[in-house]
Amino acid sequence: MAVQISPSILSADFARLADEAARVEGIADWLHVDVMDYRFVPNLTLGLPVVESLLKATTTPLDCHLMIEEPDRWAPDYAEAGAASVTIHAEAARAAVRTLRAIRAAGARSGLALNPATPVELYEDLLPEIDMLLVMTVEPGFGGQRFLDIMLPKVSRARALIDKYGGEVWLQVDGGVSETTIERCAEAGADVFVAGNAVYGADDPAQAVRNLRSLAEKPHSTHA
Ligand code: DX5
Ligand code: ZN
Repeated sequence: MAVQISPSILSADFARLADEAARVEGIADWLHVDVMDYRFVPNLTLGLPVVESLLKATTTPLDCHLMIEEPDRWAPDYAEAGAASVTIHAEAARAAVRTLRAIRAAGARSGLALNPATPVELYEDLLPEIDMLLVMTVEPGFGGQRFLDIMLPKVSRARALIDKYGGEVWLQVDGGVSETTIERCAEAGADVFVAGNAVYGADDPAQAVRNLRSLAEKPHSTHA
């Protein structure tokens, strides 16, 4: 399991997104783009036009996290625009399998995100349709929230389900991931780490990515 770091631009300066992306280019594996619609979550960020501009402004692949209603209608457009990974929320999808397949058909990796109260066990049968499972470690909507330790058992259970399935499904954590929490996430079996405040709130975002990566890569006791 290779560790991957996905800095969230939610904590970056939205008026200077190209510069902010450049600060981690060549260092981060992904750039995490939080799309919010004031409906699925009580916050509003950006949509497809900004994603299209960002795609031209950086070589870092975009990891689009859609915190929106009607992802079935909108998600394939992000994949077609060139986002390398598109994640929809299980709670919002009406036809998750169809939408996950449409994301893949458009050439992107398909992701399925679960809010804190959504059990991972419900989605075991969907693992063949998913390239990345996202276990939220805060209630979605805002950056800089406190990491929910109570989600760690769910991360471990997600890891066990993925291992049992045996296919390649990445396990992402998002929310409150920092130098003080990332090791516990890695120990529980996560391999893709979103970090907003811990990267863009730091004086040196590139160094913050390196620090997070080395903490996640430290040998951990088994997560089994
Ligand atoms: C929250 C978003 C996160 C957010 C994480 O709803 O999905 O991606 O940017 O920010 P931090 O790392 O600051 O908790
Ligand atoms: Zn996110």
